[in-house]
Amino acid sequence: MTIVDCISRKTSFFLSIVAAARKQTQKTMLRIISGRASVGSFYRRKSSSSSSSAWWLRRQRNDPYVHKAHELGYRARSAFKLLEIDRRHKILRPGMTVVECGAAPGTWTQVAAAAINAGGAYGHERCRSRHRAGIVVGCDLLHVDPVPGAQILSRADFTSEETQGRILVLLGGRKADLLLRDMAPNASGVGTLNSSAQLALAARALHFAVLNSASSRDTMFLCKVWSGAGLRRFVKTVGRFYESVEECKPNSSRNEYAELFELGRGLTNRRIKTNKSAKK
Ligand SMILES: C[S@@+](CC[C@H](N)C(=O)[O-])C[C@H]1O[C@@H](n2cnc3c(N)ncnc32)[C@H](O)[C@@H]1O
Repeated sequence: MTIVDCISRKTSFFLSIVAAARKQTQKTMLRIISGRASVGSFYRRKSSSSSSSAWWLRRQRNDPYVHKAHELGYRARSAFKLLEIDRRHKILRPGMTVVECGAAPGTWTQVAAAAINAGGAYGHERCRSRHRAGIVVGCDLLHVDPVPGAQILSRADFTSEETQGRILVLLGGRKADLLLRDMAPNASGVGTLNSSAQLALAARALHFAVLNSASSRDTMFLCKVWSGAGLRRFVKTVGRFYESVEECKPNSSRNEYAELFELGRGLTNRRIKTNKSAKK
């Protein structure tokens, strides 16, 4: 099965389940209106959601990474995930070309822009001899405030051809050295749906990376994934294109999250099977 087949199957499965969930919500509303279900469930739900907000606020208050991010001017604690992965795996260097999909609020873009000297705007903390300027393009469905030196595509769906075309224009003919995928679909509350949706997005990112990255031992693909169904198969697919695939779980990634990061390094194969070639 090609990456694209896999995406379209997973996406249509996901959409059909979302439609079913919507229908179910409508049914529940009708049950309440017709007196067959209790309105009290709304209150119970409301109180459980306010206690979960209190829990979230408490956790934020007690989280050292949240404080540190604030002190250092990062938009979110996620900065430390990328900084830690970079410290361990040496993925960022001045002059690189980086694409980030799922960039809001722009924290990874901040980290990457500073490390690669994006647009020559950082002149420069890491590069002592020559200040090579790099390119970072970050895109997100949401608005992302500007990051010095970075090119931002706000309110842009990475999975659309239009957005991918705009990214290529911003790269100005250069191939990507690193694709960062921290993109996450909205959680649906149903684990298997989340896992299919995130794998479908991961496959899109991989497809883009394979087609638009430089063929080199230094080319990288860093992809957030969640442990669960389909992950091993996805990792195997990454391994078909990259020389090595390493798994990282930075200390700053909360233990209660099943998130992991797969790092593919060294793009060795660009051949993505099309339906035609798969039939041969
Ligand atoms: C965990 S956040 C990214 C955090 C970011 N890396 C940072 O450090 O600030 C995941 C983002 O993925 C974005 N996203 C989800 N689906 C997307 C899509 N199809 N195209 C672009 N962005 C998407 C969401 O809007 C969300 O902002």
